[in-house]
Amino acid sequence: MTSGTATAWDPALYAANAAFVPALGAPVLDLLAPRAGERVLDIGCGDGVLTRKLVDAGCSVVGVDADAAMVAAAQAKGIDARLGDARALEFAHEFDAVFTNAALHWVGQPDVVTAGVKRALKPGGRYVGEFGGHANIAAIRTALIAVLARHGFPAAGAETSYYPTAEAFRAVLERAGFVVETCQIIPRPTPLPATGMAGWLATFRAGFIDAAGVPAALQDQIIAETVALLVPSLQAANGDWIADYVRIRFSAHLPE
Ligand code: BEZ
Repeated sequence: MTSGTATAWDPALYAANAAFVPALGAPVLDLLAPRAGERVLDIGCGDGVLTRKLVDAGCSVVGVDADAAMVAAAQAKGIDARLGDARALEFAHEFDAVFTNAALHWVGQPDVVTAGVKRALKPGGRYVGEFGGHANIAAIRTALIAVLARHGFPAAGAETSYYPTAEAFRAVLERAGFVVETCQIIPRPTPLPATGMAGWLATFRAGFIDAAGVPAALQDQIIAETVALLVPSLQAANGDWIADYVRIRFSAHLPE
């Protein structure tokens, strides 16, 4: 899922290297417990794989995503997906629930996003979601920054992702007036598909490597060296790769 990010996504690459993102969204969908007939807003709907499950549950769903190619991919699945920024939601008191999976870490500005979510919801409406929490992909980030520095591309301060602690995100929700049922950090070691760590880096970190100023001819080497650094911590004995994802999962609602 993608939202509010400058990264341009390729739906085919995403489907090949990141199909686990919507597949692992089942627990947060369960937490939402969508009911037929509910009107639901999905922030960062991406290519719509998980959004489709809300539609299949009988909900009337609007998806919003900041990436035009992803919006087109979601629309091709029959979803009412719209190009939009999670920081500038234009809905007013019309949804029973707002849902989000694997998107808010790209967006930042949590108070702005949460104010828009609050405005979009009816009184009593639910806000349920999951995204990257504190120490998310810590080993991957550290290894990549180390390799970039080794090649003369300092990028230590360039990480803009929002990975809050549970306490910090609970405070965001409560500041906006939500009643919080749950807000917790969940370590989720995530097996990667056969494309492995190199595929993950090519899918999710190409923009970061580009922004660090690495010429195209050097990018494959940066990825290969990062993969090599990560072998001891994230490669299983059988050769499979397991990424060090950490989620923050939350459920909250507005007072009636
Ligand atoms: C995440 O879902 O936590 C994530 C995915 C790709 C890059 C960084 C974080």
